Amino acid sequence: MKNFILDVDTGVDDAFALLFAARHPEINLLGVTCVDGNTNLKQVVINTLKVLDAAEAGDIPVGVGATRPLIDEPRYAEHVHGKDGLGDMGYPESARKVDPRPAVELMRDLIEGSSDPVTLIPLAPLTNIALFLRAFPESAKKVERIVLMGGSASQGNATATAEFNIWHDPEAAAIVFQSGIPITMYGLDVFNQLRMNKSFSERLLATSHAPSTFGGRLIDAMLSRLNYEITLGDYGAVAVALYPELATQETMKVMVDTTFGPNRGATICDHRPEEFQERNYTKTWLEQNPGVQVCKTIKVDELRELWMETLSRP
Ligand code: RIB
Ligand code: CA
Repeated sequence: MKNFILDVDTGVDDAFALLFAARHPEINLLGVTCVDGNTNLKQVVINTLKVLDAAEAGDIPVGVGATRPLIDEPRYAEHVHGKDGLGDMGYPESARKVDPRPAVELMRDLIEGSSDPVTLIPLAPLTNIALFLRAFPESAKKVERIVLMGGSASQGNATATAEFNIWHDPEAAAIVFQSGIPITMYGLDVFNQLRMNKSFSERLLATSHAPSTFGGRLIDAMLSRLNYEITLGDYGAVAVALYPELATQETMKVMVDTTFGPNRGATICDHRPEEFQERNYTKTWLEQNPGVQVCKTIKVDELRELWMETLSRP
């Protein structure tokens, strides 16, 4: 059993991740925290509670976090996720209530309250995580690993070079990458590989099982909007946190571009041989940045079937 805390900006692929995390028997989903990202924070919370209902999840605490990035104005991705951020499927709002603690306090309490290691899995802009690191540094030291969906060792999606979660709040990302906590970066290099098409939604919709039906309708809602194959996206980061062997990783030095230029929000991954890198980094920086585990490949078929099976569990 692994203890996970998910930080989400639900969004369609955050929903794919939540469905999996709430239903897999080897995952102890300690809590979920919400942050502004794909859509505004209020809508992210509404969507997150709806998805926990669809997952038939137990009483999982949901914390409300940052309303906007540390420096930049919010820039939403409704063109991808729909006006409501969840494919505009029209599901009713949940009767679930959010936890009264702000997201960073909920994170602290869940980590302090766990006798076993906890993995933080941000699937969104890193604003909440940065605020948590700054507010509760002693609790942050107890985080076993951060497995984040974000960044790219190749090209961007929000811009030519920057991935959306990092681009949305580059300062927060820089704080997280310099935290010294072991990090696995599940970036666009693998994020885009987990493609889903109509054959998968048909399998899910062939049952009357609520979690499967919700997942199938979400895939179809996105296929009708985007007219091409969609990706399970954020889900892959949760699956790789659970089963690291489903990905290959390379240890790389990663810097976040926080300048206000064309590469703002890019994750600069150093591909050069170790001996060429020393001249570029200060001793302090190297101490703060032990190296990020950057996911390079994933086992696509296994990951897709893992998601399908987990949704279909009784
Ligand atoms: O770039 C993809 C990421 O941005 C995903 O987490 C998606 O949900 C959006 O948050
Ligand atoms: Ca997300």
